[in-house]
Formats: sequence, structure tokens, C-alpha cells
Amino acid sequence: MSGSVLIVGGTSGIGLRLAERCALAGERVVITGRDGERAAAVAAGIAREIPVEGLGLDLAVPGELARGLSSVGPVRWLVLAAIERDANTVREYDVAAAIRLVTLKLVGYSEVVHALVDRLTEDASIVLFGGLAWQRPYPGSTTITTINGGISGLARTLAVELAPVRVNALHPGVVGDSPEWVGKPAAVLDALRARTPLGRLASMDDIAGAALFLLENPAVNGVNLELDGGWLLC
Ligand SMILES: NC(=O)c1ccc[n+]([C@@H]2O[C@H](COP(=O)([O-])OP(=O)(O)OC[C@H]3O[C@@H](n4cnc5c(N)ncnc54)[C@H](OP(=O)(O)O)[C@@H]3O)[C@@H](O)[C@H]2O)c1
Repeated sequence: MSGSVLIVGGTSGIGLRLAERCALAGERVVITGRDGERAAAVAAGIAREIPVEGLGLDLAVPGELARGLSSVGPVRWLVLAAIERDANTVREYDVAAAIRLVTLKLVGYSEVVHALVDRLTEDASIVLFGGLAWQRPYPGSTTITTINGGISGLARTLAVELAPVRVNALHPGVVGDSPEWVGKPAAVLDALRARTPLGRLASMDDIAGAALFLLENPAVNGVNLELDGGWLLC
């Protein structure tokens, strides 16, 4: 197989789980996080036949991304999963925090694609991570709800602009075993499970499996896939 799997935001959570699965399947994998040394250490912990590479990239500083990606070779699968957590209401609006997150998720994701566009293989595909705050806002989600809506549009416009490269977006609901949620109070998690028709929350493996489906299936293009165990139905 030619071309590597590049997972931006692959040092933690869902991105890391996906990196582990791709490395196990024999793919050449590159992961990124904000700090190069930490990314290299996390990559070294995914001990596989083909060593995983770790790179430092800060998506909130998009002007530096092309340089940060200069060592990356041909890319077959590009996954953009990076996130910084944010709580921002419009009544107490933190402009700097909003600009940082919008820059990271929308400009940063776009600039990574721009920087790599000549290195995408002919059969390349891209997965962008949004989230279900897009469809179900909560107090403090003003920026992330807006951004996740933007991710849905970004996937569709990139699928048109980059054709025949496929571009899809994945919108998880609450991922119960992710670092963000696993330590939350049992009562909070129980309440979320209770309103999920499956009676369980999606896991990181569920989400990684969906990302692999979007990356692999040659007919899936311009899709916004929601993965929440039916949570939006209730
Ligand atoms: N977990 C959930 O329940 C859930 C729900 C809905 C949507 N999602 C979406 O799924 C994706 C993965 O979520 P997760 O919970 O697995 O994330 P996570 O564990 O918090 O990991 C976030 C990743 O983003 C990287 N990162 C943070 N700030 C960055 C920056 N400024 N520039 C570049 N990279 C940066 C982190 O790297 P370093 O820390 O090494 O810098 C890490 O690799 C996200 O896009 C998130 O919005 C998750």
C-alpha cells in the first residue's frame, strides 16, 4: 500500500485508538500533537513492525503548519481529530478563546489539507472530526456547536474541490471511554446512558471503526456520519 496514515490529533483519545488499529493492520502511521517530543513518545509506545512517527503541530497557528508537515511523505488516509476543549456562552463571550478554537478546527484543518494536497495519493481519503454538539447544543457549546456545523460544510466542499479524493466527516456523541468522559461522575454517565436507546455509550473503538469505514469504503463521499447509539432520537 502506498502512502501513510496521518492522524492529526493522534496522541490521545479516539485519534490514538485509530492510530493503534492502523499500526496493528500494518499501515505506516504518523501521529501529531501540539508538542513534538510528547508526540514522539506516544508514537514510540505504539510498538509495531513499522515504527509510528510522532510530529509536533499546533493547529491554532496555521501559518506554521506547512513547515511542520514538510517531512511527511505521500498520504493515503488523512484524519483530522485535533480538539481543545472549550466552554463559551454568548452572554459571557470569550473572544480570544472563540478565535483560537475556530482557528484550530476550521482554518487549521483546512490548512493541513492545503499543505498536503500535492502529497495525497490518487486513492486518498480524508476524515474530519466534528461532534454532535452540532445537532444538540448545551450551555457553553456556542463555539463548538458552530464549529461542528462548519466541519459538516467543510467535508462537503472539500469533497467537491478535491475530487476524486474522498472527504467525509464523523460526528460522535458522547464517547464513554474517551479521556474527556471516562472520569466524569457516575451519575452524569448513567443519565447519558439512560437516554441512549442502546443503553450504552459509544466507545473509542466504535468511533475508530466508523472512521475506518469512511476511510476505506470507495463509495462514501461527502457524508456527515453521526455515531451516538441513537442518542439524538431521545
Ligand atoms: N470524546 C468525545 O466524547 C467526543 C465527542 C464528540 C466529538 N469528539 C471529537 O472527536 C475528536 C477526538 O476527540 P477526543 O476526545 O478523542 O480528543 P482528545 O483525547 O482530547 O485528544 C485531542 C487531540 O488533539 C490534539 N490537540 C489539542 N490541541 C491541539 C492543537 N492546538 N493543535 C494540534 N493538535 C491539538 C491533542 O494532542 P496533544 O494533547 O498531544 O497536544 C490530542 O492528540 C475531536 O475532534 C472531538 O471534538 C469527541
